[in-house]
Amino acid sequence: MSERTLIIIKPDGLQRRLAGEIIARFEKKGLKIAAAKLMQVTPELAKKHYAVHKDKYFFDRVVKYISSGPVMVLVLEGEKVIEITRKMMGATFGYDAEAGTIRGDFGTSQTFNLIHGSDSPQSAEYEIGLYFKPDEILDYKMPDAEWV
Ligand code: PPS
Repeated sequence: MSERTLIIIKPDGLQRRLAGEIIARFEKKGLKIAAAKLMQVTPELAKKHYAVHKDKYFFDRVVKYISSGPVMVLVLEGEKVIEITRKMMGATFGYDAEAGTIRGDFGTSQTFNLIHGSDSPQSAEYEIGLYFKPDEILDYKMPDAEWV
């Protein structure tokens, strides 16, 4: 069954001109882009996004980071899309992430980890609702859908 996830190419991903490379990986994998936009995340939105981590020591750091410059937000769609995109992103920090993953190939940092992807269907629903209005998410068929 098809599911959706929220992906954010974080400020370092944009500043380092990696947005195209990252999106290309998802496209080549066979995932469908259901929504996409370039935006500036406000600290208020960032606090809502990371609300479950509000008591963690890194909360202020993640809020400052994600709101420090433009980001590209996408809704990706496909079977097992959450599991697949988490694998493709790699472990949370660049220095831990396996080669071949986005974080493993493009970063070494503990803070600047390039990309966010929802970690469960519940968080995907919550996060998609924070970043997109329902009419910004498009329902359409890919011509190769039966092959991928
Ligand atoms: S936890 O504690 O395991 O639930 O947290 P985790 O899922 O690993 O991380 C939640 C988000 O916080 C980011 N994070 C950090 N940012 C900066 N510094 C440190 N030390 C740090 N630890 C965790 C992590 O990248 C997650 O953000 P997203 O956007 O989901 O990647």
